[in-house]
Amino acid sequence: MDDENPRVAKADAEVQKLISRKRTKDADDRKVSSEIFDKATLQVLYKLANQGHLDVLNGAISTGKEANVLKGIKEDGSIVAVKIYRIATSDFKKMQYYIAGDPRFNVRSSNKRQLINNWVNKEFRNLTRLKDAGVNVPEAITSLNNVLIIEFIGDEDGNPAPTVKNLPPQDPAHFYEQLVEQMDRFINKANLIHGDLSSYNILNFDEKPVIIDVSQSVVRDHIIANELLARDIKNISFEFSKMGVDTSIEDLTNRLIKD
Ligand SMILES: Nc1ncnc2c1ncn2[C@@H]1O[C@H](COP(=O)(O)OP(=O)(O)OP(=O)(O)O)[C@@H](O)[C@H]1O
Ligand SMILES: [Mg+2]
Repeated sequence: MDDENPRVAKADAEVQKLISRKRTKDADDRKVSSEIFDKATLQVLYKLANQGHLDVLNGAISTGKEANVLKGIKEDGSIVAVKIYRIATSDFKKMQYYIAGDPRFNVRSSNKRQLINNWVNKEFRNLTRLKDAGVNVPEAITSLNNVLIIEFIGDEDGNPAPTVKNLPPQDPAHFYEQLVEQMDRFINKANLIHGDLSSYNILNFDEKPVIIDVSQSVVRDHIIANELLARDIKNISFEFSKMGVDTSIEDLTNRLIKD
């Protein structure tokens, strides 16, 4: 079966290598690695490898609260970003709350795995919808259960683009103008509200903004959409003011909300 596929065996070896490398680190890392690579997640990774989406996993890009982002190498050598949600540390209350009010997800599941799968599927669909609306987001490639594979944003040597938090733009005013255009498409073309927009979730890709982390993004008529929008606007105007850009909550609101 799966185990006999050489490509899967290779992925397995890489995952094992990754785990064993992590094992030599501190206890916290050990905890994280055993959390992401539970048996079910390994099986999902094997399946994705079998489908040709992934050949080997090659190191961590980020370890977040709920998800780990890893670098995946395909057989042709190209790189993808692999976002793996950890069942153990996910905020199910939040997921339930965000999903319940979204007409695209007609589910009221209390099953945690099912909820995560919906959450990941939501991120996939949001990315597709945003890309269609011309927003600069990573392209969604595929998703399966708690694993999402998306376009890798970074250079040809495999260095991921830094977040704006880690590398503030050289010309904040110019970057801000590009960002406002992206936000305008996000809100007024894709009809979505990001819901967690800040310098942590915007990559500085050669001085161009790429918006990431859209699992929590909701449709505009969601009951919490306005509250999330207000927070996004507040975060962005505050952060870019601090970088010296001439903006305010009122100014950004007026530019984004036209009706
Ligand atoms: N497509 C990508 N290409 C390169 N790097 C990425 C990509 N997607 C995410 N990253 C990196 O991984 C980090 C975490 O990704 P993301 O923000 O999507 O998840 P998260 O914040 O860990 O999610 P959560 O907080 O829910 O656990 C980002 O800050 C970025 O550095
Ligand atoms: Mg994030």
